[in-house]
Amino acid sequence: MTALNQYLTGLLLQSPWLGVAVMMNNYFHDVATALMLASGFTLYTVYRMQIPLNDQIATLYFLRIFKKMVTLFRFAFWWIIIGGVPRTVFYVAFEWNHFADKQQVPALMVKHVLMAAAVVWGVVAWRRLKQKVTVLRESLTQETRALLDAD
Ligand code: HEM
Repeated sequence: MTALNQYLTGLLLQSPWLGVAVMMNNYFHDVATALMLASGFTLYTVYRMQIPLNDQIATLYFLRIFKKMVTLFRFAFWWIIIGGVPRTVFYVAFEWNHFADKQQVPALMVKHVLMAAAVVWGVVAWRRLKQKVTVLRESLTQETRALLDAD
């Protein structure tokens, strides 16, 4: 065990509250991931619903949801990134699985490659959607656009 992990283990042994804080942080890292995926999925579903209708009301409805989902997506994304830092720092002291031992390292790599691929795919999908949002926004009448901007 490295000196840092020994030090962190000592801190965790002294303070159960620190343990609770790390546990909650790790839990919220997972929750934020679910939130981010759910925001993308919801948005995609609403977009698919907008296509066949394609009138002013359906477009306004979609663009309003888009605005909210972008906020939720950004919030979840930064939450994941920021919460990932203490999770990484405390990983060996707090989460290391002694049954899987060193074999968990390649497993962690596989998980992170999969996650990175999902994030890259997600970013590409969001960028494409942004282009469609620009087109849809321009298709609104001045009156409907004013309703959207009033949000
Ligand atoms: C948007 C990108 C990310 C997503 C979607 C994500 C998602 C996740 C998920 C779902 C887990 C739980 C895996 C499990 O318990 O089996 C996890 C674990 C973990 N994450 Fe993240 N994460 C991301 C970025 C980061 C970043 C930037 C860091 C470091 C700064 C980080 C550090 C960790 C660590 C240390 C673990 C525990 C080890 C593991 O189970 O793989 N994550 N992450």
